[in-house]
Amino acid sequence: MSIVEKFMTMEYGPAPEDPREALAWLDRHRRRFGHFINGAWQAPAAGSYFDTTDPSTGEKLATVAQGSAADVDSAVRAARSALPAWQSLTPHARARYLYALARQVQKHSRWLAVLETLDNGKPIRESRDIDIPLVARHFYHHAGWAQLLEQEFPGYAACGVVGQIIPWNFPLLMVAWKIAPALATGNTVVLKPAEFTPLTALAFAHICQESGLPAGVVNIVTGDGSTGEALVKHPDVDKIAFTGSTEVGRAIRKATALSHKKLSLELGGKSPFIIFEDADLDSAVEGLVDGIWFNQGQVCCAGSRLLMQESIADKLIGKIQNRMNTLRIGPPLDKAIDIGAIVARVQLERIQRLVALGVAEGATCWQPSIPVPSAGLFFPPTLLRNVHPSSVVAQQEIFGPVLAAMTFRTPREAVELANNTVYGLAACVWSESINVSLHIAAQLKAGVVWVNCTNLFDAACGFGGYRESGYGREGGREGLLEYLEPAWFKNAPPVHATPLAIDQPPEQPAEFTAPPIDRTVKLYIGGKQARPDSGYSIEVHGADGRLLGEAPLGNRKDIRNAVEAARKAESWGKATAHNRAQVLFYIAENLSQRREEIANRLSAVVGKKQAEAEVSLGVERIFSYAAWADKYDGAVHNPPFRNVALAMKEPIGTLGVVCPPDAPLLGFLSLVMPAISTGNTVIAIPSEKYPLITGDLYQVFETSDLPDGVVNIVTGRAAELMKTLAEHDDVDAIWCFTDEADAAAAKTLSVGNLKQVFTNEGRAIDWFDVKQGEGRWFLDHSVQVKNIWVPYGE
Ligand code: NAI
Repeated sequence: MSIVEKFMTMEYGPAPEDPREALAWLDRHRRRFGHFINGAWQAPAAGSYFDTTDPSTGEKLATVAQGSAADVDSAVRAARSALPAWQSLTPHARARYLYALARQVQKHSRWLAVLETLDNGKPIRESRDIDIPLVARHFYHHAGWAQLLEQEFPGYAACGVVGQIIPWNFPLLMVAWKIAPALATGNTVVLKPAEFTPLTALAFAHICQESGLPAGVVNIVTGDGSTGEALVKHPDVDKIAFTGSTEVGRAIRKATALSHKKLSLELGGKSPFIIFEDADLDSAVEGLVDGIWFNQGQVCCAGSRLLMQESIADKLIGKIQNRMNTLRIGPPLDKAIDIGAIVARVQLERIQRLVALGVAEGATCWQPSIPVPSAGLFFPPTLLRNVHPSSVVAQQEIFGPVLAAMTFRTPREAVELANNTVYGLAACVWSESINVSLHIAAQLKAGVVWVNCTNLFDAACGFGGYRESGYGREGGREGLLEYLEPAWFKNAPPVHATPLAIDQPPEQPAEFTAPPIDRTVKLYIGGKQARPDSGYSIEVHGADGRLLGEAPLGNRKDIRNAVEAARKAESWGKATAHNRAQVLFYIAENLSQRREEIANRLSAVVGKKQAEAEVSLGVERIFSYAAWADKYDGAVHNPPFRNVALAMKEPIGTLGVVCPPDAPLLGFLSLVMPAISTGNTVIAIPSEKYPLITGDLYQVFETSDLPDGVVNIVTGRAAELMKTLAEHDDVDAIWCFTDEADAAAAKTLSVGNLKQVFTNEGRAIDWFDVKQGEGRWFLDHSVQVKNIWVPYGE
């Protein structure tokens, strides 16, 4: 073709990236890889291997070890024995290793990008310009955190040995997201890459060797789901970090419930891409291309549900179709390709099946008339219209280049549609009005909201989900907390082994007058004192066996009523922080005014000294959270783009709080006050030992301007009531601070909607010690961070 002809047609010629360096690396390893354990390559114990192929051609790239439980065990041992030396390094020494890893990634960026594209099928343009630079950025950023660790996280300690399981859609990027924060905080790692894409994780093992990372600090075990399962179940792993499907996330949650493993889950999504009529439609279409066709749509935060304002729907669809007609699908190593191959045949078949199902359910399917390679695993960009919001393609993650389009009329309807999903990973909002955009962003249930932009990620900005998209964040300060624990908590003794510091044999409350009559309290639901559904009560006795009064025997129905009341009170989360602070101060004031009578009653159970301490420290504790209410701020991140990312701390929603038995007043306040200070509403189950505290509490709340339903109290058998709370789909999180059995039950029973669970893991907490019983640890568990990305400039 002559230059003139080329100019006239403007057709692309082939522009393949050279794969030789990456292939030579595979050849140097004879295209056969063992596990990377204790700094060396190790053949699998059972001797089994599997192939990894190039999905765009079907060609075999290499053979990789299939990890068995024995391999996992050997990797965990290596990580465990490397831990003390790794932890004894200075923060600066660890920072230097992370810096070295960042530098090596940069030096090898070209062959890493090619290897990624070969193994995964993603366009080289993406692996070269997005994945690998973000990998390096992640190690640089965390080299910085390693350096600052002791200054920024005083009193915190590493979890220990961390098991990490990652998916195939961003293989090396997920390695970085997992390993960088784990190492920066002083943990050692066993990582299992996905079976479809193990190669860049193995290349990273090579980089660890080159960087001189001490043996055993990073171990890579390859294999399928069974290898992952062995890692999850290994008794000597302190934390599991998982990214992948919600289904497997749920299985992991179940498998870890009976252990004390800390868990973070980054799961699926069905993220809305909302376009308002005043949006810059051309930019929005470009954003959409990135939102759903980036990485063939195999992105957990893909903008897979297009929500268009009705007035612009037809015009917008025309623009989208025009743009789809210009997308190029083909060999991913070609630098001018937009859409590469689907990672594996099973994924391709899943996409085909779901699209067919969408059509059967009434959607119209449109695909551009562009050439699609006949060999290899390719699926054309696809637009589904007339999608009903409840249909499978609007609800299930397709994980392919398939966009499901729907319309809305009003902003309110847009929010309703957007939130009509069990997921909550990400969302996009396109509008030229910053007011509208931020107003909508605030209402979306999503961990990341991109305003007039799409798919921006940075190591400084936390990424992670709401609801069944998982919990925990990767990146930023929040991400580090996933790999840290308060040092005192790590070493805390079991709950029954140690009496509270204040504990003493209960004395007769000599200078206190005994309550003149038996006290009968009620439940407290929606701001009202309520009788229990069962009509039964439980007797409450003092330390000397004397009958002190009766508390209602709450049941499932009472809990459900309380959840309903708490849900109705959710506007508490939108009250100003100042307003919440004022209410808390007022609660403290009213408690203080009743201090004598409350201490008097409480002393019959816990003794005079503890009763007095509970009340006076209780007042202080409320003051602390009143103080925090308007100071526990978010942050403004400065990612290396012309964007700000507003890291907003939002309440989790409705919390079930099971209070510790031994400090009936102080324990209750130490949990309920942080929860409400950040805007959550609560259903609390008070101390089973002394549920009569409920009567004192509601009298205080009733006189303190606390809106009805913000705190609800249901007395009864804690374990039974907790079960209903844990299983309730309208409860967003469970805090359980009784004993080990309850902690395990809370985790197991709440698998259904993947509630966040915060427990004492059966360890003793000294509520009278401010360092243990109060502060950021509780606040951090009471919020989820939403990062709202806003571009600036022209
Ligand atoms: P998956 O969740 O099965 O795999 C992710 C990782 O978990 C892999 O390393 C796998 O070996 C491991 N794994 C599987 N079963 C395990 C178990 N029982 N215990 C421990 N580890 C286990 O995802 P898969 O099958 O590759 O993809 C299926 C669907 O999952 C996709 O179509 C997509 O909808 C979703 N997905 C979501 C991802 C995300 O980033 N949120 C990533 C990958 C898949």
